[in-house]
Amino acid sequence: MVNISESIKYVGVNDKTIDLFEGQYVVPNGVSYNSYVIIDNKIAVLDTVDKRKTAEWLDLLEKTLNGRKPDYLVISHMEPDHSASVNEFMKKYPSTVAVGNEKTFNIAERFFPGVLKNKLVVKDGEELNLGSHTLKFVFAPMVHWPEVMFAYETSEKVLFSADAFGKFGALDCDEDWACEARRYYFNIVGKYGSTVQSVLKKAAALDIAKICPLHGPVLTENLEYYIGKYNVWSSYLPEDKGVTIAYASIYGDTKEAAELLAATLEKKGEKVALFDLARCDMAEAVEDAFRYDRLVLASITYDGGIMPVMEDFINHLKIKNYQNRKVAFIENGSWAPMSGKLMRACFENMKNITIAETVVTVKSAVDAQAENQLKALAAELTK
Ligand code: FEO
Repeated sequence: MVNISESIKYVGVNDKTIDLFEGQYVVPNGVSYNSYVIIDNKIAVLDTVDKRKTAEWLDLLEKTLNGRKPDYLVISHMEPDHSASVNEFMKKYPSTVAVGNEKTFNIAERFFPGVLKNKLVVKDGEELNLGSHTLKFVFAPMVHWPEVMFAYETSEKVLFSADAFGKFGALDCDEDWACEARRYYFNIVGKYGSTVQSVLKKAAALDIAKICPLHGPVLTENLEYYIGKYNVWSSYLPEDKGVTIAYASIYGDTKEAAELLAATLEKKGEKVALFDLARCDMAEAVEDAFRYDRLVLASITYDGGIMPVMEDFINHLKIKNYQNRKVAFIENGSWAPMSGKLMRACFENMKNITIAETVVTVKSAVDAQAENQLKALAAELTK
């Protein structure tokens, strides 16, 4: 068990057997569902955990409470990876007062009608005193659902940040924060950049010593690094210079064109991230499309359209508000190459997208003409 401080205890759990987080994201190192307890005159539990881990969590909570009963259960976020154990918690500790906002309780009624009987409905900025600790609630709508609220503990300057600053990966895995936090951010919260920006502005007014998210490690040092990353990500600006190349190929010719471009760019000293969309983790490709400032999409023409896996990828970018990047296309078609024109049309309504002038057309296999176009594209992307 990790203690955040003398009075603030970590009671979260690791899940290393889940196949897909949120039903769609691979998590090779698992994920943690974080939960915290503040021990004071009054005891507050901050969030429950996914139903996959209810029993383990309740056991840990009971040990941590050491014979006492919780007074409050703060519900920061109603998504079931955090709220699915509320029902079992309330069976065990029925006198606990649930703390949430109006939207929290509206959603709770849909997930588990009638379970929350003792409710404390709080407003943005309202405080809850526990003794020597005080929680101040900071609403964070759409980070990542409408009811989300942060809680700032004023005496120890701890920010309980809900999904914000969270990452994939169980707590006992040794991995870089940014990589899995970025994949988490763009795929899960990415659509809501403007609301993340609003909450970051609110958070800037707080003196924060520690950040306790609902997934991933508690952040205790160098907080400006993490807040800086969130600021860049939520503003939709590229984080690094580089080119993401994503391809959809059937017999390897479109792949060859993508690899030739990648090799040429690398020779010019560019950072390149190359993805085979039919085989990669698409969430990684989405992450790198947002991370770097340039994107190249290479697709065969399929039934007169774009290869479905490429269409899916472009749709992922669109729903996450992809913007502020330079985008280029490589098309392939044996009798009527159409995919370049069709991919381009998908980007027309996206904000501040610059389309490269050079379009590479492969007619079945890479020939001298296509090689020249690839060189021209590499030159355009690096000028
Ligand atoms: Fe970790 Fe939006 O739930």
